[in-house]
Amino acid sequence: MKRYRIAEIPGDGIGAEVLAPATAAVDRVARHHGFAVEYDEFDWSCERYAHTGAMMPEDGLDRIRHHDAILLGAVGWPGVPDHVSLWGLLIPIRREFHQYVNLRPITVLEGVPSPVTAARPGEVDFVVVRENNEGEYSADGGRYDRGTADERAVQESVFTRTGVERVLSYAFDLAERRGGRLTSATKSNGIVHTMPFWDELVAERAASHSGVAWDQEHIDALAAKVVLDPARFDVIVGSNLFGDILSDLAAAVAGGIGIAPSANLNPEREYPSMFEPVHGSAPDIAGKGLANPLGALWSASMMLDHLGEAEAGGQLLAAAREVLAEGTVRTGDLGGSASTDEFAAEVLRRLP
Ligand code: NAI
Ligand code: MG
Repeated sequence: MKRYRIAEIPGDGIGAEVLAPATAAVDRVARHHGFAVEYDEFDWSCERYAHTGAMMPEDGLDRIRHHDAILLGAVGWPGVPDHVSLWGLLIPIRREFHQYVNLRPITVLEGVPSPVTAARPGEVDFVVVRENNEGEYSADGGRYDRGTADERAVQESVFTRTGVERVLSYAFDLAERRGGRLTSATKSNGIVHTMPFWDELVAERAASHSGVAWDQEHIDALAAKVVLDPARFDVIVGSNLFGDILSDLAAAVAGGIGIAPSANLNPEREYPSMFEPVHGSAPDIAGKGLANPLGALWSASMMLDHLGEAEAGGQLLAAAREVLAEGTVRTGDLGGSASTDEFAAEVLRRLP
């Protein structure tokens, strides 16, 4: 029997609450499809930081380097600055394991109310491809002349040819497999070094993908279009910062961040890829059993796809979609009154 070893990092807040149903559902479809999934759990979190002063142990990355995938809940907690939790855990994993594609599917599901009237099920179905390793999220720069009238902060963006080309290559290939359309997020009118470079590489890459109809939009106008006319998009590719903002916006358009999944992919498969819901640790509802587990379930479904178990992954997502379409059992963020466990039980009931 095929066996997959997953590094499971529940993290903080609702992280563990949403991973429990996700792994239960994975186990169920695995049994049905004749493979096994084994989890090694790691307590890396802000809670760990509070006790030990580090989000993860020094050899943390080595401990998960040989797993088949990483499944993560959420990290972050009041009292620990967000840049500490991000740079102490998520960013090292994404960078060390060359997870340079952050993939975020945006689909308006039947039965999920969208705050945007233009977002209708069956029409809105696109993917945001975010560069995940470099760009605006850089530690280069500094604070100068602190406390004086000349005080200033400088933050440098780093865009490399290799880094941009590989994510564009992934995005164009994906557009070719999907609807054949790609939109690049830019801001080359205001950001005069990195963004023109990005635009040039997009045009270069486009030349070798004649089957893909592409355009580029300034990020501000693009944000408006994602709200006003979300059905027009197929693949949107953006830098680390633009992709981050746009994908949360798009997730909200599709009905809320509680349902949005994401994958941090190392397409070459030299390292494990990481799957995590888009949402954070939600301290305001943590411990109450109210969290929507759909973002985690969907992320787990993407993990199964990545492992080569697409049929099992599809079955898991289809079961969740059925529950939503029926409309009687849904969590509070979608206007219902079901608990995390009640929603998860409905999904499990529809699995073989
Ligand atoms: P958040 O996503 O945790 O919460 C934003 C709002 O959405 C809250 O009102 C929350 O109750 C609601 N929400 C989130 N997930 C939900 C779910 N599954 N079901 C129902 N409602 C849900 O974002 P926030 O408040 O900005 O951040 C809280 C902490 O999480 C911070 O420490 C932040 O750094 C961290 N964070 C971590 C992320 C990660 O691990 N990748 C991503 C985003 C934030
Ligand atoms: Mg974000």
